[in-house]
Amino acid sequence: MKNNKNISDRGGFGSKLGFILAAAGSAVGLGNIWRFPYLAAKYGGGIFLLVYIIFAVTFGFTLMLTEIAIGRRTGKSVIGAYKAVDKRFSFLGVLAAVIPALILPYYCVIGGWVLKYMAVYVTNRGESVAAAEYISADSDAKISFFEHFIGQLGQPTIFFIIFVLLTSIAVFIGVEKGIEMISKFLMPVLLLLIVGISIYTLSLKGAGEGLKYYLLPNFEGFTFSKFLRTIAAACGQLFYSMSIAMGIMVTYGSYMRKEDSLESSVRQIEIFDTAVAFLAGLIIVPAVFIFSGGDSSALNAGPGLMFITLPKVFSSMPAGGVIGAAFFILVALAALTSSISLMETVVAVVMEKFNLSRTKSCCVVIVLTLVLGMLSVLGYSEWTDVKIFGMQILDFFDFSTNNLMMPVLAFLTCILIGYSVKTKYIEEEVMLGEKRFRSKLLYSVMIKFVCPVCMLMILITPFVTDI
Ligand code: PHE
Repeated sequence: MKNNKNISDRGGFGSKLGFILAAAGSAVGLGNIWRFPYLAAKYGGGIFLLVYIIFAVTFGFTLMLTEIAIGRRTGKSVIGAYKAVDKRFSFLGVLAAVIPALILPYYCVIGGWVLKYMAVYVTNRGESVAAAEYISADSDAKISFFEHFIGQLGQPTIFFIIFVLLTSIAVFIGVEKGIEMISKFLMPVLLLLIVGISIYTLSLKGAGEGLKYYLLPNFEGFTFSKFLRTIAAACGQLFYSMSIAMGIMVTYGSYMRKEDSLESSVRQIEIFDTAVAFLAGLIIVPAVFIFSGGDSSALNAGPGLMFITLPKVFSSMPAGGVIGAAFFILVALAALTSSISLMETVVAVVMEKFNLSRTKSCCVVIVLTLVLGMLSVLGYSEWTDVKIFGMQILDFFDFSTNNLMMPVLAFLTCILIGYSVKTKYIEEEVMLGEKRFRSKLLYSVMIKFVCPVCMLMILITPFVTDI
């Protein structure tokens, strides 16, 4: 009886479109809008685009299909799901639950920064962000609005809390009426915004040069070692962008209807995710290019690109205030749907493991997120001296999950499917909504040989190069 109650409590997506948009909502995030464009600019424009697309339809497809199929076949949260596939691999479920629990807090801290920028632009104070200069408290150096903002304790905390609470609304309501409804509304808005802004930036004078830089392959200085680094960067970006190895796709898969086609759903999520990343590049690369007068190094600014360089770019554009507002609304929506998927993954685990209601589980997860997230907020303000293995607290959470735990989880998932339970386990699930599994051969080669090698590459590159 108790079990039955649990299963009906879990809920599920009511339609295939709802599932696709929710999963795409998870996939489309800060990675697409900020990280993809600057990686493309750094690794030879068209060369990176091509490598990325090839990986998306092979490697990305395989890993995403695997996770969704595991989720749907077992119908459980990550901890139960991995255990149900093979008892000997139960520890993977624990890892898949710990990863989102560690990412969610710092992701919400960054979400809070985005909300702050959105608030500034929507209230028409964008100019002040671009122009402001502050004097650092510890040295006499000049610092930007961004550095000044994250160096405080009060404001980043408030925006962080607001972001956590906004995330929790959909999760409190549930899968069909909360997550599905919100995704069905937000994802089309997001698409309209990104298409609108890219048309605008492409119409600016001088955009053509930037566009060429983004789309045409640039072989200048393209050595073999740079080629290898391009491959590793594309692999890593894809992996992060598709929300793989965070337990998310297993969880969302467990809410998917049995009669819907897995293969075509995965293809559509991929197309959505890659299209948004591509469009973000169409906005950022030409805009920064025009602003910097063709100096491509402005694009390599890393994290500062979004919070320091772009505001300057907006203020140099005609109607930049409006474009800036639209842009930060877009980023906030993208970040929100991603953090909803993280929170849902952790809540599903708490519900199942401790047999708690959705409401109670949400409360537990909110408290945990607030406590852990505060560590990251403090790392930039009161605790700037605290370093873990030489890293800021937020960077440490980011590095340990993205560069260590996630590739390990994905690698062992490939071993579990490729060599322990065998690909038949996934094929049977795919066949439920299909007449035939069109990519069967590709899938089996990828999961047994190519994906594990790619995962090992992602795992070792940060230690051997400067990616
Ligand atoms: N896929 C997201 C992106 O591209 C990353 C992400 C998703 C991070 C979900 C956390 C949670 O930005």
